[in-house]
Amino acid sequence: MKPIVKFLIICTALSSVFYTAQAYQGSQNKELIIRGEKLYMSYCASCHGVGGAGDGPVASSLKQRPNDLRRIQTRHGVFPAEEVGRKISGALSAPVHGRKDMPVWGLVLSSSDINHLVRYLRSIQRVYPPQPAE
Ligand code: HEC
Repeated sequence: MKPIVKFLIICTALSSVFYTAQAYQGSQNKELIIRGEKLYMSYCASCHGVGGAGDGPVASSLKQRPNDLRRIQTRHGVFPAEEVGRKISGALSAPVHGRKDMPVWGLVLSSSDINHLVRYLRSIQRVYPPQPAE
């Protein structure tokens, strides 16, 4: 076999492994985002709104309106995943979510639930110019 043919066969094999791995990762990530979405609809949408705009049915009776969760990345420049997780868990205080010593979601949700929620929130960011999904 000519070296160039060998080379091409190796390239083809490597790229198919690479693409399969990527597709697998992508589908796994999607699954986790969907789990996050379900949690979000159960626990968060009442205040933050189904789409995340801060227009849930409970929002107008709150002293402080919830922020638009689709604009976290726009406000911060990057999506601060760790900070968002800590705000949800209550480790970083968000007054309505409870204080650090009395967290609301940190008691109800497991740390993997919180990770799924963070992934979901990352997936609904509206950024201009649009960023490729991670
Ligand atoms: C009782 C209404 C209410 C519920 C339910 C609620 N939130 Fe919030 N949330 C708020 C309000 C109000 C704020 C904004 C004020 C603040 O930061 O303290 C907020 C802030 C946040 C922030 C910070 C936003 C930012 O720009 O930094 C995140 C992230 C968040 N909420 C996610 C969630 C998630 C995820 C859930 C579901 C597990 C949830 N919230 C449930 C009312 C609520």
